[in-house]
Amino acid sequence: MPVFVRIPADPQVVQALIGSGISVALRSAVMLVGAAAAMVWTAPSLAGLTALVIPAVMLPILLFGRRVQKLSRASQDRLADAAAMANETLNASTAVKAYAREDIESTRYASAVTLALATARRRIGTRALLTLAVIVLVFGAITLVLWAGARHVLAGTMDAGVLGQFVLYAIFAAGSVAGLSEVWGEVLRAAGAMERIGELLAEQPGIVSPAQPATLARPMRGALRFDNVTFHYPTRPDTAALADFTLEIRPGETVALVGPSGAGKSTVFALLLRFYDPQNGHMSIDGVDLRALALPDLRGAIALVPQETTIFAGSAADNIRFGRQDASDEEVREAAKAAEAHEFISALNDGYAAELGERGVRLSGGQRQRIAIARAILRDAPLLLLDEATSALDAQSEAAIQQALERLEKGRTTLVIAHRLATVQRADRIVVMDGGRIVAQGTHDSLLAEGGLYAELARLQFVA
Ligand SMILES: Nc1ncnc2c1ncn2[C@@H]1O[C@H](COP(=O)(O)OP(=O)(O)OP(=O)(O)O)[C@@H](O)[C@H]1O
Ligand SMILES: [Mg+2]
Repeated sequence: MPVFVRIPADPQVVQALIGSGISVALRSAVMLVGAAAAMVWTAPSLAGLTALVIPAVMLPILLFGRRVQKLSRASQDRLADAAAMANETLNASTAVKAYAREDIESTRYASAVTLALATARRRIGTRALLTLAVIVLVFGAITLVLWAGARHVLAGTMDAGVLGQFVLYAIFAAGSVAGLSEVWGEVLRAAGAMERIGELLAEQPGIVSPAQPATLARPMRGALRFDNVTFHYPTRPDTAALADFTLEIRPGETVALVGPSGAGKSTVFALLLRFYDPQNGHMSIDGVDLRALALPDLRGAIALVPQETTIFAGSAADNIRFGRQDASDEEVREAAKAAEAHEFISALNDGYAAELGERGVRLSGGQRQRIAIARAILRDAPLLLLDEATSALDAQSEAAIQQALERLEKGRTTLVIAHRLATVQRADRIVVMDGGRIVAQGTHDSLLAEGGLYAELARLQFVA
């Protein structure tokens, strides 16, 4: 079951048990104890007989109970599948419309819902059978006891009034047993839900800070080193995203990573941020192994403009302040200006207070990217990682932002990923990657003179 369904659904099941289940259970338990005591007190022999029939009533609960529990888990899962599908399709509604897939998606959802319904019906059917069996057996048992009691009355060993009294108590007792068994079903469900909540809470991230983290000397110099780094994504153990990657970056240097799509450029950033640890090799900042650093220290030293910008539900100012929570309004404004975002934000209805994201203003690709750049500017970290940071911008705003970025790169170690070679020419060094390896490095001119992959990429871009 997807986590985003589990997080609200499982606690709800537990809440239902605690909210109403426990009160029903308590009431039923008190009533059962009272009725049982009254039964023993009125007619001990009949009460003894009743005690003998109880196991027969318990039998179907034990037999069917497990099945009901399994089916109820299955039907919850199917319902969650359908919810996940609806969520995915609605989020991608423009793609669905553009490819005219409304009918196909509706059919897919309909079959998911039908499947959920079928599972729910099986669960309800099994549960109804269980209830039927319990009712038949309980009434059978009452009839049996009544019959035995009637014989006593006929034989004159029991008063008819006592029998009536006993039957009344027995009905109370049976009612409370029914109540308890219903709650028991809920307890089983809640136990399943609690188990899953426990699993979720016990989940440990694979990448954690060391127990005794090393500290970086302040101010940081910003020297970066990759030593024979080899890395496979966990989902693709056979293909190396980075192979034998060795690179040394001097403090304050601006290095551009170029290469075809899938070359492993973004992967370099992911490893620097320790989203993953490489299987082989070492990485260090200022001579300190990344794995020796506390994660907040490491990530706090990095400002990232990712390849895809996430805009959160919140105001424009909040979205920029994501870069540094304690930034003042003035600083937010300055960052926005430097990132060429001030103008379009000011043009929004509420300016910096304008709500962005799902329920607010939807930004264009280039506007989103400028927010991401403003975040990075605000963060003011010694290491700057730009992953296609200006790919969605028009030539004019790109030129303006390039200047801001160049100012930002002064005195910081910067890694720039760009497909547009015009953007990388200002780098101190260009590193050409292909298939997870470094195939060449140098300046724009030296690489052109070398005539390898870079010259080929340059030829395609400048001739076209
Ligand atoms: N999360 C992931 N899980 C599995 N494989 C991945 C993942 N991310 C990337 N890859 C694979 O690793 C390889 C390198 O990907 P990477 O994102 O580093 O490429 P890139 O050079 O940034 O490409 P682009 O220029 O298109 O952004 C690709 O083959 C890609 O399919
Ligand atoms: Mg990439």
